[in-house]
This record gives sequence, C-alpha cells and structure tokens, in this order.
Amino acid sequence: MTKLSQVFAEIIEYNQKELCWIVSPELGKFLYKKALAIKAKKILEIGTSIGYSGLWFAWALKKNHGILYTIESNKYRFASAEKFFQKSRLAKYIVQIKGHAPEDIPRIKGKWDLVFFDATKCEHILYFQAIKDKLRKHGLLIVDNVESHKEAMKNFLETIVNDENFEVNIFRDFDKGILVARKIKPLAT
Ligand SMILES: C[S@@+](CC[C@H](N)C(=O)[O-])C[C@H]1O[C@@H](n2cnc3c(N)ncnc32)[C@H](O)[C@@H]1O
Repeated sequence: MTKLSQVFAEIIEYNQKELCWIVSPELGKFLYKKALAIKAKKILEIGTSIGYSGLWFAWALKKNHGILYTIESNKYRFASAEKFFQKSRLAKYIVQIKGHAPEDIPRIKGKWDLVFFDATKCEHILYFQAIKDKLRKHGLLIVDNVESHKEAMKNFLETIVNDENFEVNIFRDFDKGILVARKIKPLAT
C-alpha cells in the first residue's frame, strides 16, 4: 500500500468512528479526474472536514504543480485534516484556512481554476456570490449534495442555472447529486 492510499484508508476509518461527512471514494476520484482534466493549478475548497476530498485535489495538484486553498470552521476537524495532510506528504500543495467561509472567501487573493462547495448548504448562495467573478473562463464549480439537500440550496440552484456566465450540468444519480458548472464567460476586468 502506498503512503497516500494508507492515509485515505485511515481517514475513512476515522470517519466511520467520528462521522465527519467526507465524500465517497467515487466522488473523490471524480474530483481528482476533473482537476487533472482541466489542468487546475488553483483550487478552492469550502468545507475541508478532515481532509479527504482535499487530499484527492492535492494529489492532482502535485501533478499539475498547483495549490489547494481549503476552508474549515471547526477547529477539531481542521486539526485532524492538518495531521492527515502532513502524513500524506502532500501538505506543501495545501493552504488550510480556519474560518467561516462567507467572510474568508473574499479575503483570499487570486483567481480559481476549480472551486468545490461542500459546507453549509443554505450558505451556497453566499459562496457563489463570492467566487463567481474569480473563476477563470472554462474553470469549474463543483457542488456536492445538490439532490440530497436541494431544498436548502434552492436559492443557489435557481441562481446558477439562470446565470448566463455558466453552463450547468446536474448529475442527480451520481452520489448525493453533483453539480458541475463551467464558466463560459471571461473574467470581469
Ligand atoms: C461535508 S463536510 C466536508 C467534507 C470534505 N469536503 C471531505 O469530503 O473530506 C462539511 C464541512 O464544512 C464545514 N463548514 C460548514 N460551514 C462552514 C463555513 N461556513 N465555513 C467553513 N467551514 C464550514 C463543517 O465544519 C464540515 O467540517
């Protein structure tokens, strides 16, 4: 077993005891493949938890020579993620931010190639407002739980499907429902 697959297995085991709402291995692999496919160099993740999806991104970013910014508000899960990132030897591809996403996203400088929403569902509209102008043309926004939590994200879902800057695909039967939106307009100047 490689170092990374060992850490993935440890995170899954920890999640079985502590319930930290990590994505499934299938979704982890999907995120990894998307990041590789678009050669993402700058990824923003909202909702680190204990670092499972973050590690899939970091693995792709090692190949793409990029960096992940990931935000988590819970200090215990933040610390566990830090420990797993160190163990994986991918920590140098990751910047962890301890904070509350709606306030912290606007403070992070730069443009994104890929953004992943996996935190408080009713806040998605706030995350979207904060990132939409910072996503590059052909960049991706990926959102988990769009079927399982569709009522909580109703406002966000209605907003993005009607936004002419995005081409939106919703995979209702994949995992808990995954939205993949591609930015089709250039960044605002
Ligand atoms: C579904 S879990 C994330 C799972 C993680 N993406 C993974 O697959 O490994 C959601 C996490 O988002 C965090 N969270 C919720 N609302 C947040 C917010 N407003 N700002 C930062 N973190 C938040 C929660 O504490 C929780 O750990």
